[in-house]
Amino acid sequence: MPPVSPPGLLEGQVALVTGAGGGIGRGIALRFAEEGAAVALHCRTAVSSARELADRIRGSGGEAVVLRADLTDEDACRRLVAEAARWGGGRLTALVNCAGVQPVQELAGMTAAEWRAVVDTNTTGVFACTRAAAELMRPAGGGSVTHIASVEARSPAPGHAHYCASKAAVVMHARAAALEYGPWGIRVNTVSPGLIEREGLEDAWPEGVRRWRRASAVGRLGRPEDVGDACVFLASRLASWVTGHDLVVDGGVSARPTW
Ligand SMILES: NC(=O)c1ccc[n+]([C@@H]2O[C@H](COP(=O)([O-])OP(=O)(O)OC[C@H]3O[C@@H](n4cnc5c(N)ncnc54)[C@H](OP(=O)(O)O)[C@@H]3O)[C@@H](O)[C@H]2O)c1
Repeated sequence: MPPVSPPGLLEGQVALVTGAGGGIGRGIALRFAEEGAAVALHCRTAVSSARELADRIRGSGGEAVVLRADLTDEDACRRLVAEAARWGGGRLTALVNCAGVQPVQELAGMTAAEWRAVVDTNTTGVFACTRAAAELMRPAGGGSVTHIASVEARSPAPGHAHYCASKAAVVMHARAAALEYGPWGIRVNTVSPGLIEREGLEDAWPEGVRRWRRASAVGRLGRPEDVGDACVFLASRLASWVTGHDLVVDGGVSARPTW
């Protein structure tokens, strides 16, 4: 008997992943490709990282394209989504809004421009890409949208007020959008990761990494693929009755009582 090779969970889907040149976006895009989706990899400046990933996906028999856009520009978001769908033969079945910024800055001394830079980057692209994607998905019978929020949408961290506020906004956008786009067949959810491994993190913040490991029920930081797995689930038929949900992926840290 030939080896059984089950179809991937996302076989036949065309997905756009924003921020796919960055750490978590790469993990999401790779998992989508492994599950059979054709993947449009969005980046802004991380072009070589996105291209390297696209080559890797194509080298394994998958389909990928690299598209560039600054997501603070509403027209650029619309063009990005349209280009992804054109590349997908007129179809876009899944959008993952992963691009975002996460600078650390205390409230004391923060200017309105600095506040806006984070809130606008982390929310406007999410709103504009989702709107453009929903308009394309509607006539095709629907699709899925997943925003990457953060555990900090619920548990604030000092130096991250702008970031926490932006991620809480993203969670609420998804819940509201789930209601408005549900009748169009479009599901909208968020994935809220905890601390995810990236190169240099342990050297830059050894004490934070140690604390996280201690707090995690499974004793480790997250990996980009852990976030990717959650996004694959939400984009797949297995989640056809899941919408307006925030899926926390944090190794159990937020389950731990703080008292
Ligand atoms: N790392 C964590 O522990 C963690 C935890 C919870 C949530 N998150 C969230 O997960 C997402 C990915 O984080 P990450 O750690 O992978 O960060 P990352 O490596 O810095 O990737 C983020 C990507 O967002 C893109 N981006 C930023 N501003 C943009 C803009 N104006 N227009 C278009 N693209 C823009 C960047 O694209 P270019 O590089 O191409 O310019 C970057 O590659 C973020 O939304 C973050 O808030 C991260």
